[in-house]
Amino acid sequence: MKLRKIYAVKLIIAGLMAIPLMVHAQAKQFTPGAIWPDNNGVHINAHGGGFLYQKGTYYWFGEHKIAGGAGNRAMVGVHCYSSKDLYNWKDEGIALPVSPDTTNDIAKGCILERPKVVYNKKTKKYVMWFHLELRGQGYKAARAGVAVSNKVTGPYTFVKSYRPNAGFMPYYPDGTPDNEKVDCTQPKNKSEGFFCRDVPGGQMARDMNVFVDDDGKAYHIFSAEENFTLDIAELNADFTGHTGKFARVYAGHQTEAPAIFKHNGTYYLIGSGTTGWDPNPARWFSAKSIWGPWTYHGNPCIGPKAELTFGGQSTYVLPVAGKKDAFIFMADKWTPKDAIDGRYLWFPVTFKGDDIEINWMENWDLNVFNN
Ligand code: DGJ
Repeated sequence: MKLRKIYAVKLIIAGLMAIPLMVHAQAKQFTPGAIWPDNNGVHINAHGGGFLYQKGTYYWFGEHKIAGGAGNRAMVGVHCYSSKDLYNWKDEGIALPVSPDTTNDIAKGCILERPKVVYNKKTKKYVMWFHLELRGQGYKAARAGVAVSNKVTGPYTFVKSYRPNAGFMPYYPDGTPDNEKVDCTQPKNKSEGFFCRDVPGGQMARDMNVFVDDDGKAYHIFSAEENFTLDIAELNADFTGHTGKFARVYAGHQTEAPAIFKHNGTYYLIGSGTTGWDPNPARWFSAKSIWGPWTYHGNPCIGPKAELTFGGQSTYVLPVAGKKDAFIFMADKWTPKDAIDGRYLWFPVTFKGDDIEINWMENWDLNVFNN
């Protein structure tokens, strides 16, 4: 009996001594492409991510992937993490779970990609948009999905999914080249054919982002027309629907993975080509108005594998709170054979006048923005 007691006490002491070993060292830098442990020591599982900053805390929303090829479909939902410093992330759980009901739009096994959350000051609600493909239909549905919550970390309630702007023709500001205008009675190129085909049922909506401008208006940017065009579309006042006003950007080319930001009054857009999960050169655009005209500038990446976006694909550009001219370009390094192993490539955006560069770095920290 006595021996057993001593053994039990020894076990407790050994357990107490092990506790400090379980506390993870605080990260103080970014290491692009490395395993990135969260507060539990588990690799962050938030792919195709979107970010929201509120009152000193950053929130990261992304696709929760599972192991193997099955992880390319949504088996769990949208995962949320929070951070005060951008290096160390706390697991906040699943913000939007997929549904066990196979008839639900967001049924387990659907494709739910690139979730982005914005906050609506008027309704005081958090609004999540995502690219949705219905279960068992591959990438055919090409819909936008929306969910809302009263709390940033969720749970989010699914509202609806659809193809945006049914019945509407695009908006062209003065100065847009004529060859971008669409005459549905005489389509000139393939892209216009797709556009005209989709007017009655709404535009296809795949890879996407959401951007809230300084005036509080929100825009949904998505790959449309079999990815041959990007649409920039105005959201309504509560951010849960489209108004019908939208512009077509870089029509006739295939652009995916749009990430948009604004710096010194200029709008910037970084995207990719369309090669499935394989990397390709990034491309960037700029405009003085969100409605365009948007100027194409080529690949902003510099360094090893710059011609392949360093092995990744754009997902978001995050302004760093409280720092001037500080934006982080974020990309996913996809691993479709074992989806859960996908890595994150973050780099500072370097401004050269009105131009931008994204330079490869082995590792870096936010002090780069002090220089
Ligand atoms: C590229 C897109 O950017 C990803 O989000 C995903 O849809 C893959 N294509 C699927 O092949």
